[in-house]
Amino acid sequence: VDGPIPAIDRDARSPIGLQLVEGLRRRILDGVLRPGDTVPSTRALASELGVSRSAVVAAYEQLAGEGYLDMRQGAPTRVAALILAGGPSAEGLDDGRRDETGASSARVTAGGGAGGVARAAGAGGPANAAPAPPRIDLLPGRPSTARIDTRSWRAAWRHAAALDIPSESPPPFGVPRLRAEIADHLRLARGVACAPEDVVVTAGTAEALALVASALALLVGGALRVAVEHPGYPSARRTIERRGATTIPVAVDGDGIDVEVLRRMPRPPHAVMVTPSHQYPLGGRLPVATRLELLGWARSARAVVIEDDYDSEFRHLGPPLPALASLDSDRVVLVGSFSKVLTPWLRLGYLVLPADPALRDAIAAIRADEPSPVPGTAQEAAAALLASGAVRRHIAVTRREYAHRRRLVLAALDGLPNAPLSGLDGGLHAVLELPDAATAAVVVDRLAAEGVAVASLAEYSAVPGDDGAGLVFGYAGPNDTLLAEGLERIRSAVAAAMRPREAQPTA
Ligand SMILES: Cc1ncc(COP(=O)(O)O)c(C=O)c1O
Repeated sequence: VDGPIPAIDRDARSPIGLQLVEGLRRRILDGVLRPGDTVPSTRALASELGVSRSAVVAAYEQLAGEGYLDMRQGAPTRVAALILAGGPSAEGLDDGRRDETGASSARVTAGGGAGGVARAAGAGGPANAAPAPPRIDLLPGRPSTARIDTRSWRAAWRHAAALDIPSESPPPFGVPRLRAEIADHLRLARGVACAPEDVVVTAGTAEALALVASALALLVGGALRVAVEHPGYPSARRTIERRGATTIPVAVDGDGIDVEVLRRMPRPPHAVMVTPSHQYPLGGRLPVATRLELLGWARSARAVVIEDDYDSEFRHLGPPLPALASLDSDRVVLVGSFSKVLTPWLRLGYLVLPADPALRDAIAAIRADEPSPVPGTAQEAAAALLASGAVRRHIAVTRREYAHRRRLVLAALDGLPNAPLSGLDGGLHAVLELPDAATAAVVVDRLAAEGVAVASLAEYSAVPGDDGAGLVFGYAGPNDTLLAEGLERIRSAVAAAMRPREAQPTA
């Protein structure tokens, strides 16, 4: 390696962009470029090397996605703080350069350097000790926040803070401007044509589900029964149970909910809650024909369909399928969230009401007593952020980033014996099935002791005693370097847990 800037060989067969990425990565790994060093602006480097600026931008974006560079709008691009798997930890960024929110756990963790490793070593300690934060957090549901355009973010909040301060609660269904922006977002990102009047702003999916369950209970006037996916999202299940509903587990197959089970129910439930775009947690995707069957069943059973569309903005394989809400606007309540698209820190979501006015009236009655928990200022800020185009751009950037991370997951874990990997067609998490619950428990515990947090598939079971065996892990939150180490540790933990089984005599 000569100087800090890689030379470009125009006669080489390797494309210029790739040469740039590999050259810069090599210099960072070799310590020629160190954490905190600024790299030349894309314009300066393009002109110095005589290459197009877009090639340099693409190379920087790729390296930022891999965790090597820290790109911030309005600030020079710098070499990021890294922990190299198995190697010495590089220097952290000085505290002053961490972002104000501390929301970027990957970078803050990486900045913790060796301290993070030392903390993780205590993770298997006494149960009454405060649990150490995982060094590598692969719990499903954590998006990457490192690339949020903080300049637009701050501008949106400044705008909201400068507005007149009303002396009343925000409108029950949300601030008009935000409802209109959400309707636009749904049209462009999801192909759902809805009017701003159909949108109710909520404090995330969790509050949307609580609101729908309360409204349905009001309408049913008695014991509300809701069919839920098994396995499925446990906190969603508990949320509606806490509103007095009885949940009825319905098994999912490789695609998603099994409509035949619903059809065979002697007493149809009042509602069914599904994740058709990316079944949570198994990752199936309900084919169009099954979507139509589900809606047909709902019509004949006069049941409401609650469509939890939590991560459909991120589809890696196959075309996006129509939302149930776009196929039937009479009985589908679409529930969406900015928790994956931006961050759960915002606690912002929405629901799209069906045409039937009954549910609308019930929700209005509830909101009249319990005003919206989403602060008006936060709603105005979110509206301004959506209007600025920053959310749309962020989705485009993270889509590429997650597609790249997904490839890392496949490269590290696909094809392990007796441990099929699935759920990777969309979203931010994957499932690694294991032969039995005991093996899964050993793997999860060993990973926890090593500072790597993953979830166990058993946690998602809706039927006691019918637990799946495997790991559920997210791949969006940590940077590439930490993810690569986490995946390697998963691979080793699985191999170690399987060894006794493989060593058993087969006779
Ligand atoms: C199935 C499912 N729905 C919704 C959400 C988002 O929930 P909220 O919007 O309440 O943050 C998640 C987050 O993990 C999820 O896994």
